[in-house]
Amino acid sequence: MLGTGEAGVLLQEQGLDVPLSDGRMAYFNYYWLRDNCPSSFDPETRERVFDVFGMDEAPKAASAAIANGHLEITWAGSGHVTRLPMEQLALFSRGEKRADIANLPRVPWYSDHYGKIARFAYDDLMADKANVRDWAEAMLTDGVALLTGLPDTDEALTDTAGLIGYVRPSYFGLVFEVKTHIKPTNLAFTSKALPLHTDLPDEDLAPGVQFLHCRANSVEGGNSIFADGLAVAEDFQALYPEDFKLLVETDVPYFCEHDTFDMRARQKVIELDEHGNISGVTISQHHADIFDMPQKDLDRYYPAFCRFGRMMRDDKYLMRFRLNAGECIVFDNHRIVHGRAAYSATSGNRHLRGCYTDRGELRSTYRILSGEGRFK
Ligand SMILES: [Fe+2]
Repeated sequence: MLGTGEAGVLLQEQGLDVPLSDGRMAYFNYYWLRDNCPSSFDPETRERVFDVFGMDEAPKAASAAIANGHLEITWAGSGHVTRLPMEQLALFSRGEKRADIANLPRVPWYSDHYGKIARFAYDDLMADKANVRDWAEAMLTDGVALLTGLPDTDEALTDTAGLIGYVRPSYFGLVFEVKTHIKPTNLAFTSKALPLHTDLPDEDLAPGVQFLHCRANSVEGGNSIFADGLAVAEDFQALYPEDFKLLVETDVPYFCEHDTFDMRARQKVIELDEHGNISGVTISQHHADIFDMPQKDLDRYYPAFCRFGRMMRDDKYLMRFRLNAGECIVFDNHRIVHGRAAYSATSGNRHLRGCYTDRGELRSTYRILSGEGRFK
């Protein structure tokens, strides 16, 4: 201890010990205190304008005290005064990640989910942001929602996606048309069965949120099959912890190669979030490249990979339903696996128009519509 300020603030070599209102003594580093002085942030842009790299010497308090609910620091050298609200200090006193209202607990779902799926009418979403907030909440907890009553127009899809984020392109462009193509570049663009998968794991940053607007579906077959990768991964962890670890830690190569593109990326099959909780899966047999891991490692990896893939097909997890014209299914492409049964291409018309947005913007929308933020 080098010195004592008023109200029990202790000046140390590299920071301050500050008594908090709950009786705890908490330590704060001088750089952190100076860098986060309210004057460091431009009131218009709200961005930090203080240049911590530009300080000639390490910051040090000349004096510090608590007054009127604030910690007041006078800095040695510059004489600059920093006043920080005690509530803000309390929030950062334990070194825990900043609380985030968008970190909602994910709720795993199973085969019976179709009756309970969060449903929102297009007109209601367009009319009232409170419905958009509820939709965003369902996306964060369940990872899936069904929108109804979309107009039969090209714009309906992108207008809807624009409610929770900007449409982000893939190497198929801004939107894609799921129907039978004459020269298909993807299994989805045929009438064949499409095994459960997440989209475009061959992209460096695989798309976050996927939208599929059903414009027509009068074919025989072609029912949608969706499953919650989170629910499968949670059960997999409990039953096969060693296999789970392999799928969490091993990078798998994915690809998509045609005349004009050669996409390649590596992804982990089971994904954890920043807190170590399962956030979802990335899996696609039709986009999996030839595994290039050491062959001896594959003695363990392949059985684990197949065990997980088989488990994902268990009826316990499969939500089967028919997507009808005017509906749009929206889902977290890093969590929900989707596929479809084969259909008879000559029995009618099947057309889905799809696009993607990112998950970061979904969380942003949820925070904004929930009135949460540092500048509120
Ligand atoms: Fe897909």
